[in-house]
Amino acid sequence: MHVNGAPHRTVTLDGTDVVLIDQTLLPHRFALKRCATAAETAAAIRDMTVRGAGAIGATGALGVAQAALLAPDHGFEAALRADAALLRATRPTAQNLFYGVDTVLEAALRAPDPAAARRAAVQAAQAVADDDADCCARIGQHGAALIHDGARVSTHCNAGWLAFVDWGSALSPVYAAVRAGRRAFVFVDETRPRGQGASLTAWELGQEGVPHAVIADNATGYFMAQGEIDLVIVGADRIAANGDVANKIGTYSSAVVAQRHGVPFYVAAPTTTIDLDTATGAQIPIEERSGDEVCWTTGLDEDGVLRRVRTVPPGAAARNPAFDVTPAALIRGIITEKGIIPATPEGVASVARARR
Ligand code: MRU
Repeated sequence: MHVNGAPHRTVTLDGTDVVLIDQTLLPHRFALKRCATAAETAAAIRDMTVRGAGAIGATGALGVAQAALLAPDHGFEAALRADAALLRATRPTAQNLFYGVDTVLEAALRAPDPAAARRAAVQAAQAVADDDADCCARIGQHGAALIHDGARVSTHCNAGWLAFVDWGSALSPVYAAVRAGRRAFVFVDETRPRGQGASLTAWELGQEGVPHAVIADNATGYFMAQGEIDLVIVGADRIAANGDVANKIGTYSSAVVAQRHGVPFYVAAPTTTIDLDTATGAQIPIEERSGDEVCWTTGLDEDGVLRRVRTVPPGAAARNPAFDVTPAALIRGIITEKGIIPATPEGVASVARARR
């Protein structure tokens, strides 16, 4: 990914600090946030300074490495386990978070002593981050075949490079197709209430020079009915063993309307998002966040001052599920680093990583 022309990764380990792109400031300001302890790293995941399945997975992994680097020799294992539990408890839905934290914790706990555990943890965390970037690049190569010259792609939420370590999932095929010289246009769902499409996807498409338009979430069906959308590609936070997919709230509505209009609906995700221990989408834990996110919104006023404003009547109740489940039957295919698979138990099993 390039930010103002310079290469960047969303999350890195610098000494004992975890360094993140602060997504809460985008698109208005690009800034990095340094987390000096695993507790600070966990807070950054919880408050959505970093967000997106792959990005929080890599952050969780680097957070465990950070915890290992900072844990004292005496009581090392207990301190490491406590920080890993803290990181795991930040958000419930994205499978990549648990994959990242557990992979690094297990690598550290296999080591014979704290010094070896620190080395193993850092190595495993870097491997999780590198693997995420590599998988996303390969998702782009497989998915680019779906994007013909002039394709008009709809996407929901942010499943670009900000949501991973690099490249992204749903947007990676678009980037690959554009780099191969094909033209593409992206309809970016605004993605209420946190506006990941409007603030993050539109920003990164702008950085990459990909033509796009932000649309209100409830305009997607209109553009499909008008024949202006050729395909949908969204990301995933967790894929159940039967091919059901949890993704940002509103994904399900997009899939239903896509089926109504015969628009192919694809999910793009690395296989680290697959959870074979979850049989169907009904068992995926869906995070419900504060209703304040529905009642309040933040943006620049006409004088360029960042303000938080209330948009609903005082005292109005609000509900705020952060994710929904799209049934496998609505999904044309899942674009993984190993190829495009059908959203079926057999398809998912054919690419899933072994259970640990
Ligand atoms: O902003 P979040 O962390 O609540 O949302 C997660 C996502 O980025 C999306 O659901 C995305 O489409 C999944 S792929 C990164």
